[in-house]
Amino acid sequence: MKRIVVLFALTFVCFAAVCQEEKVYTVAANQIKAQVSPTMYGIFFEDINMAADGGVYAELVKNRSFEFNTALAGWQQQQKNGGAGSITVVNRSDERPENPHIIKVNVTSPVGYFGLSNEGFRGMGIKKGETYSFSVMARNPLKSKTTIVVELHSAKGQIIGKAQLIPVAIGWQKYNIKFVASATENKASLFVWLKGKGAIDLDMISLFPSHTWKNRPGGLRADLVQKLADLKPGFLRFPGGCIVEGRDLANRYQWKKSIGDIDKRENIINRWNTEFGHRLTPDYYQTFGLGFMEYFLTAEDIGATPLPILNCGMACQFNTGQLVAMDKLDPYVQDALDLIEFANGGLDTKWGKLRAELGHPKPFNLKMLGVGNEQWGEQYIERWKIFTKAIKDKYPDIKIISSVGPFAGGKEFDLLNKTFRELDADILDEHYYNGPKWFLENAKRYDNYDRKGPKIFAGEYAAQSVTTGSPDNKNTLECALAEAAFMTGLERNADVVTMASYAPLFAHVDAWQWTPDLIWFDNLRSYGTPNYYVQQLFSLNKGTDVVPLLEGTEMISGRDGCYATACLDKNKKELIIKFVNSGAKSQSVVFNIEGMDIKNQATVTSLGNTDKTIVNSLDKPKAISPVDSTLAVNGKAVKLTVESYTFKVIKLKSI
Ligand code: AHR
Repeated sequence: MKRIVVLFALTFVCFAAVCQEEKVYTVAANQIKAQVSPTMYGIFFEDINMAADGGVYAELVKNRSFEFNTALAGWQQQQKNGGAGSITVVNRSDERPENPHIIKVNVTSPVGYFGLSNEGFRGMGIKKGETYSFSVMARNPLKSKTTIVVELHSAKGQIIGKAQLIPVAIGWQKYNIKFVASATENKASLFVWLKGKGAIDLDMISLFPSHTWKNRPGGLRADLVQKLADLKPGFLRFPGGCIVEGRDLANRYQWKKSIGDIDKRENIINRWNTEFGHRLTPDYYQTFGLGFMEYFLTAEDIGATPLPILNCGMACQFNTGQLVAMDKLDPYVQDALDLIEFANGGLDTKWGKLRAELGHPKPFNLKMLGVGNEQWGEQYIERWKIFTKAIKDKYPDIKIISSVGPFAGGKEFDLLNKTFRELDADILDEHYYNGPKWFLENAKRYDNYDRKGPKIFAGEYAAQSVTTGSPDNKNTLECALAEAAFMTGLERNADVVTMASYAPLFAHVDAWQWTPDLIWFDNLRSYGTPNYYVQQLFSLNKGTDVVPLLEGTEMISGRDGCYATACLDKNKKELIIKFVNSGAKSQSVVFNIEGMDIKNQATVTSLGNTDKTIVNSLDKPKAISPVDSTLAVNGKAVKLTVESYTFKVIKLKSI
């Protein structure tokens, strides 16, 4: 008897702990509440965490043009088999102010090898069987009989690739040679040897894999861009982020300097170089090899609307906060007007013609532009007014993205939010880097926003597992679920929220400054975080129209840790339900579908785990990733269990 009682008690405890009472929801599939904007859900790209140089920009040589403050940073003098000589950095700023440094390699020994090696960006990722393209600008003013021998070395010093060329031209000439690597190596280095006495001048020493995104020479890392394409993003925001503003104005992003010949793109210090004392990255510069032309092309490639953000005459207000005087703002405003012409102008315009000369006669169809990144205060408002008037006078259809500061609330937010609403702004860019609890509590944030006011761009957000700026933040499932819960609120308010992007996007595992990030990579591999999969599940299942999902008469947001939303995909004739269970208990749910006859089988994609602290890693890239299954449906009632710490997307086909 005692046994039976214990068993009964245990069963009851289990039932209470594991299976909550059944929750019944109604989905009114024939009541359209709002249309989902095609710009949902997008990507925020910034060159932070070695996202561009050292990351998606596939150049393997660090400091290829000797423009770092320490001109030979990343390079080391080398000699073998009796080789000898010297390397001098020469400044030719009169001739080439945007790329002043070259090196003069003087080989004094007739035997052996003399030269230099490059360490890459925390090493170079080399793949066995892959073709590599080495190039160099060289001149041989003394007609020296010197050969350039190029070698790839593994971390253990084995030669895993080799080629040679003879720089014959007296004046500057670009030499290019391809070779195949014989081994895979994550931390390779490049050796550039000179053989034979003489003096050769070198610049722009470069190594790229031949296989890049779309196989463009000097292009982007294919695996990383593929991860972006797999998100099917609605827009691509570039180039940031605070990098737009710069620590000071000299350090700001200037789009005109990021296009054209790469050896004419002036290199500058990356503003994240010394931002965090605990994550110093003194070897972090911007070559602008990934510049505005490449950003526009990438956006086009992956089907995303381009969204450039421009400096509005203010440096980062967390740093120097330098300002351009109001009467000196013209060149900044002109940059914005010229960018619109560059993107959309006809071939009879100055900037449209340049776009065509750079290989893209067709316009990029730019529809929107950010004025400033994370600005605040009256000084922003007065500059914003000048920009907005000039842009709207010339291009009334261009939508302007306006910052409402770095935080989701507070004095600065309130001032900008009120002012820009009064000024009839197009789109407000809200940023929030807060704990998971904040995201859960704010899933209703937009339910009461003014439906007639500006649209909302959730331009930068990510749940922080510890606190903003902490190096201990992790991309946990808990954070991803909190974001998913919050995103049900974005979807439910599709008439107000038209754009959203997680930030930052990329991080090199050996060279990051900021965590958490959506995609992590090393020199060869990459993985999507649970947060990546949440973004992807929302994006791939964004549907076309939002419909009500109610519990009785209430929408569901937060009760027992559950959040849900529903939408139709009119093109695919599907009803899509997204359900987040952020709690520790399983939930039994029933969705009664009204206004639509559904097929008797649904597909269910689940992202969940019993351990909410689980993360992905390079070695376990899919420790937590979506799993597909099917579900039998009886009539109009869809019944299922949503396990603890789980996000599910349920797709029902209309008959
Ligand atoms: O995403 C990292 C930084 O956070 C962005 O550069 C900036 O806009 C925000 O403060």
